[in-house]
Amino acid sequence: MKRISRIQLVTGLIIFVIMLLTNCTSVDENKPITFTPVVDFTAFAGSASCASCHHDIYEKHLHTEHYSSTSKASAERILGSFEDGKNQYVFDNGATVVMQRKDSAFYQTEYANGQVQKTERMDMVVGSGRKGQSYININGNRFTQLPITYFTAAAQWSNSPGYPPHNAAFDRPITSRCLECHTTFVQQVKSISPQVEEFDKTKIIYGIDCERCHGPAAKHVAFQTQNPKATEAKFIVNPAKLSRQQNLDLCSLCHGGRLQKTAASFSFQVGDSIAGFFAPNKNFMDATNIDVHGNQAGLLSASKCFQLSQLTCNSCHNAHENEKDKIALFSQRCQTCHSSGHQKLCKLTDTIGTAITQNCIDCHMPKQASRSIAVYLQGAQQPTPVFMRTHWIKIYPKETDKVKHLLKATRAKGNLNAKEIR
Ligand code: HEC
Ligand code: HEC
Ligand code: HEC
Ligand code: HEC
Ligand code: HEC
Ligand code: HEC
Ligand code: HEC
Repeated sequence: MKRISRIQLVTGLIIFVIMLLTNCTSVDENKPITFTPVVDFTAFAGSASCASCHHDIYEKHLHTEHYSSTSKASAERILGSFEDGKNQYVFDNGATVVMQRKDSAFYQTEYANGQVQKTERMDMVVGSGRKGQSYININGNRFTQLPITYFTAAAQWSNSPGYPPHNAAFDRPITSRCLECHTTFVQQVKSISPQVEEFDKTKIIYGIDCERCHGPAAKHVAFQTQNPKATEAKFIVNPAKLSRQQNLDLCSLCHGGRLQKTAASFSFQVGDSIAGFFAPNKNFMDATNIDVHGNQAGLLSASKCFQLSQLTCNSCHNAHENEKDKIALFSQRCQTCHSSGHQKLCKLTDTIGTAITQNCIDCHMPKQASRSIAVYLQGAQQPTPVFMRTHWIKIYPKETDKVKHLLKATRAKGNLNAKEIR
């Protein structure tokens, strides 16, 4: 199977090149859209340059998952183990991929019957590691995803999500759309087809950085540096001054699920309407079909909170801070609307008592299994999913039973004042 498809691919490429060389007219019809983003690498200043004037925001942002969503491979950033015995993954066909450290570089090497089949360097890390990390090999201008991923929930190496369990695949090209969601900017140099693209590895801005959400800021930095007395900002966008829809569109660029692009990756900028860059997303109509991975915008828009108020992502999230697992803090934010005199109160308020106010989240935004991020752990017949918070805020009777049960157990242990739960 794999061989045939490779032969087909190679033949296809040869034909394509011949057609290009002979200037064959039929090529035009199949020509990939020329994806030249309107933004250039030189328009960026890099987040380190913001530190001198926006010190607090800069420091906090270093701890966010956005900041570490992509980085250069390093011992510090790669979470998986290189220790003997813990550094391999065995496929169904007997092939073994071993993670190795040589000098200052990191490799994934495939062995079959003791012979090296393939060895590729891990150059870029994708993922802060909250759920996991995948690794990219950079060979010249070509970026490829490596077969082995680190899966945080099981604290072990696993097969990359969506990869076949039977054999190690080293041939998946990384597209500009993948990079658009995980980096601030990567300069594309060529688009051979929508799947095969080339990038300039010297022009990468790692992580989801300041300039991804505020726009390229070289001009802002130059202006404010030359005019240190100017108290008003120039050449920069503050999303707080934009409309609700513009704010939602900024986050939806990456948290709006699988969108079909109609313009160059990296050309969407803060303030733009998503509609000018992507085809309408039909999934928005049917929340039961939306995966918890990557489409918080779609799920949220199915919620009454969203439909009957001016709620945006920023009502609950602070874009500059890592607030992971601060459930009580998020619950307070629910209560800015759901408190007496404002929106409806929880119907359980009188039956569960004050304990309820510490955690609205486990009952109304429970963790659910993702269908799209699921990996094969070694030897497993079924993929193991990651669990994520759903953003479809509603009433989940089963989750309520679980939480009530836990509350009772806590009370039985005497950890809570008996008055807390009635
Ligand atoms: C030389 C100082 C300086 C540097 C460097 C600088 N800024 Fe600013 N920035 C300012 C000043 C002054 C303001 C206006 C006062 C304020 O809002 O803090 C401002 C305001 C802003 C605003 C709010 C704009 C508004 O309309 O409310 C944003 C967003 C911003 N800067 C982002 C950045 C980013 C991102 C960087 C780095 C790429 C950066 N700044 C680098 C001085 C600077
Ligand atoms: C350029 C793409 C991109 C944009 C724009 C973006 N995000 Fe993200 N966001 C990501 C990626 C990728 C991750 C996962 C990072 C990781 O863990 O590696 C993430 C993670 C998160 C998380 C979970 C981590 C945490 O800190 O708790 C939150 C919350 C979040 N984003 C909110 C937002 C909000 C709100 C906006 C709009 C203001 C936004 N994002 C804009 C790509 C983006
Ligand atoms: C439409 C935007 C989008 C695209 C395209 C996309 N991702 Fe993601 N990815 C996200 C967001 C958002 C998150 C985190 C939140 C979530 O899962 O909902 C994430 C999470 C991840 C994580 C887990 C991060 C962590 O620290 O837990 C990995 C690994 C990852 N993506 C790799 C990739 C790779 C590799 C590609 C391309 C081959 C890719 N993603 C394509 C948006 C995207
Ligand atoms: C994920 C998107 C995102 C990233 C990354 C991000 N910001 Fe912001 N930033 C926002 C949003 C959204 C607001 C408006 C918040 C609101 O509605 O009050 C904002 C507001 C600001 C403001 C206005 C003043 C304030 O305190 O609210 C400044 C200045 C600023 N950001 C600077 C930065 C700098 C510097 C960085 C990088 C170190 C950065 N931002 C990274 C989304 C982001
Ligand atoms: C910006 C205001 C706002 C915020 C913040 C907010 N909500 Fe709501 N919520 C609403 C409105 C408005 C409704 C609809 C009330 C009605 O039916 O009249 C609603 C409805 C609900 C409902 C009923 C849903 C249904 O399908 O019947 C639940 C449950 C709920 N919210 C929980 C939460 C939780 C939990 C949070 C925090 C994670 C939260 N809300 C944050 C405004 C908000
Ligand atoms: C133990 C689980 C649990 C917790 C904790 C919880 N809720 Fe609820 N909530 C429910 C259930 C179940 C219902 C539906 C009850 C019914 O219809 O009789 C509900 C109903 C609601 C409603 C709809 C009320 C109406 O009149 O239609 C809102 C709004 C709401 N909750 C908000 C919240 C907020 C805000 C918090 C945190 C301060 C919270 N809930 C904490 C389980 C919970
Ligand atoms: C009503 C409050 C609320 C709103 C609005 C909201 N979120 Fe969240 N979000 C939460 C809570 C609560 C969590 C769970 C935090 C935790 O467990 O650490 C969360 C978690 C996340 C995560 C991490 C998911 C995971 O399980 O790893 C991402 C990504 C995220 N939100 C993005 C967004 C985006 C994008 C928007 C806007 C489309 C948004 N959120 C709007 C409350 C909200």
